[in-house]
Amino acid sequence: MNTISRDVVVIGAGASGLTVAHELTKAGRSVAVLEARDRVGGRLWTRDVDGASLELGGQWVSPDQDALLGTLAELGLETYSRYRDGADIFVGRDGTRTEFTGADLPLPQTTLTEIESLTAAMDRLAADVGAEEPWANPRAAEYDSVSFAGWLETQTDDADARDVIAMFIGAAMLTKPPHTFSLLQAVMMAASAGGFSNLVDADFILDKRVKGGLQQVPLRLADKLGDDVFLNSPALDVRTDDSRVTVSAGNVEVRAGHVVLAVPPNLIQRITFSPPLPRRQMQLHQHISLGLVIKVHAVYDTPFWRDAGLSGTAFDPHGLVHESYDNTNFGDTRGTLVGFISDERADGVLKLSPPERRERILDALARVYGDAARRPAVYYESDWAAEEWTRGAYAASFDLGGLARFGADMRAPAGRVYFSCSDIAGRGFQHVDGAIRMGRATAAALLN
Ligand code: FDA
Repeated sequence: MNTISRDVVVIGAGASGLTVAHELTKAGRSVAVLEARDRVGGRLWTRDVDGASLELGGQWVSPDQDALLGTLAELGLETYSRYRDGADIFVGRDGTRTEFTGADLPLPQTTLTEIESLTAAMDRLAADVGAEEPWANPRAAEYDSVSFAGWLETQTDDADARDVIAMFIGAAMLTKPPHTFSLLQAVMMAASAGGFSNLVDADFILDKRVKGGLQQVPLRLADKLGDDVFLNSPALDVRTDDSRVTVSAGNVEVRAGHVVLAVPPNLIQRITFSPPLPRRQMQLHQHISLGLVIKVHAVYDTPFWRDAGLSGTAFDPHGLVHESYDNTNFGDTRGTLVGFISDERADGVLKLSPPERRERILDALARVYGDAARRPAVYYESDWAAEEWTRGAYAASFDLGGLARFGADMRAPAGRVYFSCSDIAGRGFQHVDGAIRMGRATAAALLN
């Protein structure tokens, strides 16, 4: 056993944990970062698959994400725009495929009017509730007692309008069915991106990507930390006494003044704490869970949809792949499509054998892009629910009633134990920007 002493020990070498460590070392503090996996980055993973470089986890950057943009600038990383020239595609409830341009989906005017009014209502609620302390709103408990699906039912009789709005928060963000999370959680999600209108605007929320891949953020941060990052070191035992905290992780034991848990909240329950975490913390970690989404990558010899005047952006709210985009890498002559299969639809296809699943998914892409979509040169499914050290995607959110009841405690340090990850962020919630924001805030709190 290698026993070392540091000012702070960080558990988890994702964007958040590495940001905490980087900020602390800049301020002259000593750190050790313990990472369970054999790589850094957590939910950021840029991997070569059969000769194609794929973003298996997080990848997009939006213009309001100034914490992430600041880190990209600090690390000398460049961005490029997502391809978006040409017509988008929408597939209706009856399977009718329509090409369209402009912001309005090709739906009847009555449905568009309902969507507009729901969007305005969500924007108003997001402005009122905010992202940082939604539990402090006087109507928080009321908003947290109704499911998002239930609230939508009270707002309009138009099922298409409800499904579109539900898709943008449910399938596309929290990756849970809209009857399983509350209106408050939905509004907080919208507020964390600066409003619901931003969240539904693909040109805003999915604006840029990073040349060479977003995993370079944690890779470059880890480079700066050198030997202070310990891979293959699952930290499962945290002991605190009056003078210090001791964390054991495989072959290394770290004694430090404080520990930062920079892991998704669902994984905190894997760790044994002595003495136990406060009752509130132990309770709240049982009410926050990751969603489920499969991210499908299909690489073709050429971006054939562009020749047909298509942007690659497609919405199919009733289909298997609810949204898909041109995800071609910077400077690549091949073309890549990325599509997402969320929550209960993911449950359904995950029951199939891998070849059957691939066929079903490529069928769904062919319904949108035509037969050529059935023949990718490289095909890959990112399945984070099967990853021992994540267990879902994209991030964690509260069950009904959980945010109003426990939200105020989720970032509060418990003695020498601090918490930092994208899942408990306000602005940038569930995004890399939130991971970095939390990392900076946690480092600042420790320095104080
Ligand atoms: P993260 O989970 O990355 O890091 C935690 C680390 O802790 C992991 O490395 C894990 O191995 C480690 N760990 C866990 N338990 C441990 C233990 N006991 N001991 C030691 N180590 C332990 N965001 C975005 O901004 N734009 C996007 O386009 C997307 N898209 C997207 C797609 C997919 C498929 C996913 C899965 C996620 C996204 N996201 C995203 C979300 C984004 O990737 C995510 O919010 C952040 O990367 C989370 O960073 P954290 O550091 O908070 O946690």
